[in-house]
Amino acid sequence: MKLALYGGEPVRTRPWVSKFIGGEELGQEERERVLRVLEKKRIFRYLPEGLEDSETAQLEREYAQFVGTKYALAVNSGTSALICALIGAGVGPGDEVIIPAYTWVTTACAVVAVGAVPVLCEIDHSLTLDPEDMAAKITPRTKAIIAVHMRGMSCDMERIMAAARLHNLKVIEDVAQANGGSYKGKPLGSFGDVGCFSLQQSKVITTGEGGMLVTDSEEIWQRAVIYHDGAMYQFRFTERKVPAFAGQNYRLTELQAALSLGQIAKMPALIQKIRDVKVRALKALEGQDGIHFSPAFGSERDLGVSLVFYTEAHEQAKFLEEAITAEGIPAQRIYDPAGKDQHVYVNWEFLMNKQDPWGGHFPWDQAFYQGSVEYGLETCPRTLDLLARAVQVRLNHLITDEDLADLREAVAKAVAAMPAEECRDGR
Ligand SMILES: Cc1ncc(COP(=O)(O)O)c(C=O)c1O
Repeated sequence: MKLALYGGEPVRTRPWVSKFIGGEELGQEERERVLRVLEKKRIFRYLPEGLEDSETAQLEREYAQFVGTKYALAVNSGTSALICALIGAGVGPGDEVIIPAYTWVTTACAVVAVGAVPVLCEIDHSLTLDPEDMAAKITPRTKAIIAVHMRGMSCDMERIMAAARLHNLKVIEDVAQANGGSYKGKPLGSFGDVGCFSLQQSKVITTGEGGMLVTDSEEIWQRAVIYHDGAMYQFRFTERKVPAFAGQNYRLTELQAALSLGQIAKMPALIQKIRDVKVRALKALEGQDGIHFSPAFGSERDLGVSLVFYTEAHEQAKFLEEAITAEGIPAQRIYDPAGKDQHVYVNWEFLMNKQDPWGGHFPWDQAFYQGSVEYGLETCPRTLDLLARAVQVRLNHLITDEDLADLREAVAKAVAAMPAEECRDGR
């Protein structure tokens, strides 16, 4: 059959599923919760009365219970959660923080925001931190590791925690892309010293923009509370046990909290559906020559929010991206050297140039930083190679068997016409 790429009939003419999960489920329940906030005329959390009844406090209680931690703090984005977590954990000028070379750019931005230096670490076939490379990147200046559970894939928390404990490092889990995921039966966000979530629209559940930080440490929580609100309103109601310092304003509104409260209860059922879709998607693509999957895909480590497969050669992934998309199913090669995807470290322009907002190179060139770190194509070559061979198709919980049949047909058609491995570039 002639490929749509070359003018043939596409497998699918209907649109593919949206990238949204919780966002697709917004309905009557959320409407009622938001209206209730408007009727109460209380859209600011820290009014002098009824602090514990606020929607935000309620959301925090639900989150702490959901993840199984003692404390939770609602903030206005996943990025602010990371910044508050780093401050909470005592990370600052002179420190290095190990982060994966494949994550959303603001994981790196958050590190620089607290005056610390990001150290890039390779990922492995699971799309998450390679524990071996992570151990190799530890220096006397390393203060923390940000373990990012990318594309719904949980990191190898056992090995990461073991290395971190050995070197007395703080672990911050970035759960922005894996809200509701687990590792060996334990919720993500509950392994490290602190866990950070995003509630932005592309995430499993959403308030449009929003975030959550969870921890068992009272000290981390109190420090994060200060940083998320320079006015320290919380401590009109709670005893403060840590010294004051300058904070910002990363508070969440009551409207956003109410919207999320409506969704958190739906999360387990949603996740069940997404995991099931992923397993069926993997089955649908089973046995296709020339593409392969990580053994971690479809396992408990996989929340199922996206489908990724690997080719042997870069050019093959490029071809599949174009051919599958032309068949009516949007596919994306994760690392395209000609693209600017802000999940891949070489596209983080500020980091590549060590550029600060004031025309200089803070914090890299400061006397308080005793190390030296370089960023370039050679920093994490294994990550770039893997991601240049990785093709991604978005999934959500609404995918039907008919959608999966289209996916199977589109991939099979593209794979059958894929150039042979000999033309793999540069290898
Ligand atoms: C891995 C990761 N970390 C952090 C963030 C930041 O979250 P937010 O957009 O809510 O600031 C995102 C959001 O896309 C993300 O994917």
